[in-house]
Amino acid sequence: MFLPPQEKCYLLQWGRRLVIALSGVSKWYQRGQPVLSQVQLNLEQGGFLYVVGGTGTGKTTLLRLLATEDSASQGEVKVFGYDLARVSPSTLRAIRRVVGYVPQNVRLIPDFTVFENVALALKLAGQPFISAELRARVIGTLERLGLQGRHEALAGRLSGGEAQRVAIARALVRRPELILADEPTGAQDRTNTWSLMDALVRANRDGATAVVATHDPEIVRRVRKRCALLKAGRVFMEESLCTF
Ligand SMILES: Nc1ncnc2c1ncn2[C@@H]1O[C@H](COP(=O)(O)OP(=O)(O)OP(=O)(O)O)[C@@H](O)[C@H]1O
Ligand SMILES: [Mg+2]
Repeated sequence: MFLPPQEKCYLLQWGRRLVIALSGVSKWYQRGQPVLSQVQLNLEQGGFLYVVGGTGTGKTTLLRLLATEDSASQGEVKVFGYDLARVSPSTLRAIRRVVGYVPQNVRLIPDFTVFENVALALKLAGQPFISAELRARVIGTLERLGLQGRHEALAGRLSGGEAQRVAIARALVRRPELILADEPTGAQDRTNTWSLMDALVRANRDGATAVVATHDPEIVRRVRKRCALLKAGRVFMEESLCTF
């Protein structure tokens, strides 16, 4: 399989394939207990998977491997069919352009406005300037996440919940092929939790493959999807409702 580094549309011909394939993946930070141990995990194109488990069980570690922010200590991490340990820098850049990653610590640029933070994601994905159409897309994405009227606010002055929603807008505005959201509702009230989950589910219906780490059992109960339960470094697949 070949991924043309400059093209985003390669998945159009891609068919229903494994977007994520982890095989024998272990991760440890220091000597001692691995955080992830011999993890096997597959996710098909268009799938939606929760990663659940108690605090410190390795949800962020797993998402960081998928987001190409860190590498496995052992085993193979494949994203879009590419072994991340072996890809060329240009292919890695191409993969990053089609992944919308929402880190647990949201990492906005504090001196940029909300609009600028979200528009920057489009520029980094290869849009040299923000046309009227892209501007409308940014504004529409912000509004869907309850951020109407906040476009010109400086990111550094937002509440934790607002900043988190901007981070989600930043990931979704690119219409990514793969969404990796790490505790996206951790700082939200219930109303915003459901509008945010609605935005993620819609993006998934529109074709994006989604991985959402959460330790909120109510989300998993109300928006039912497959679950990967992390426990003692292992992954237990739960096909329907997960109990954790
Ligand atoms: N960079 C690092 N260096 C050393 N240890 C780390 C590092 N990152 C994570 N860990 C350890 O790995 C374990 C798993 O952490 P991780 O952040 O993946 O858990 P989590 O499931 O996301 O937890 P939470 O629900 O609190 O976000 C923890 O024991 C943590 O201390
Ligand atoms: Mg975490």
